[in-house]
Amino acid sequence: MIEIKHLTKTYGVGDDAPRALDDVSIDIADGDITGIIGMSGAGKSTLVRCINLLEQPTSGQIIVDGQDVTGLSGAELRQYRRRVAMIFQNFGLLAQKTVLANVCFPYRAATGKITDENRARALELLDLVGLKEKASSYPSQLSGGQQQRVAIARALACDPEYILCDEATSALDPASTNTVLKILRDVNRETGVTIAVITHSMDVVEKICKNVAVLEHGRLVEQGSVAEIFANPQTHAAKVLLGRVDWDA
Ligand SMILES: Nc1ncnc2c1ncn2[C@@H]1O[C@H](COP(=O)(O)OP(=O)(O)OP(=O)(O)O)[C@@H](O)[C@H]1O
Ligand SMILES: [Mg+2]
Repeated sequence: MIEIKHLTKTYGVGDDAPRALDDVSIDIADGDITGIIGMSGAGKSTLVRCINLLEQPTSGQIIVDGQDVTGLSGAELRQYRRRVAMIFQNFGLLAQKTVLANVCFPYRAATGKITDENRARALELLDLVGLKEKASSYPSQLSGGQQQRVAIARALACDPEYILCDEATSALDPASTNTVLKILRDVNRETGVTIAVITHSMDVVEKICKNVAVLEHGRLVEQGSVAEIFANPQTHAAKVLLGRVDWDA
């Protein structure tokens, strides 16, 4: 379980530096798909970067399975990052490497080499996302939806405990979005991997999330089950995201 406790992140110095995150506390429960939603600039990507420690929080803690990870460095930090895989909006594949080499990349990063066993596992994962026949293709020869499925296979390569998806479907059309969401849902069901879906789309949240946390201007303003919040949104931010406020009001 990931417990985000009183997380604050400021860019700049001094007490009045703008806060990208302001005292945010969210629990991401094991085995669930949790949505973190907010408008542009709400602090979603900052939160993701703090969770996997690409950025150091200004204050607050990230507790993973009871351990505060915010102070980790060196080998411990690398080991922690392998437990937490990332999927981004722009796929993040290496253009000059084949699909198979991209999925194998985490093995090389972890051990400095790629074994036959690694290759076999990578092909299994490509099969899981329906792209085994594209193993020798290059990312530029794939559609956006296919590239994102490769990114999911790559994220799964090191058997992560957590997958953080930052706007993973924002660049995709509705059909590709559904394909990617179904894969994430199936992977969650089959492997029990915990997933955090960061998005500005309530549609995405409704389709695959159990719980949702709503961010606005760096603050957590609402949190609960998806059913609850869809039935009875409490805050203006949640209503706007749900389209329950007149667009020109
Ligand atoms: N490196 C940085 N330096 C200064 N300010 C930053 C930096 N990164 C983010 N911010 C600010 O922090 C706030 C939150 O940004 P963040 O990227 O986390 O938003 P977001 O919710 O991911 O938005 P989007 O939906 O557009 O991706 C914004 O006001 C942004 O300008
Ligand atoms: Mg963002």
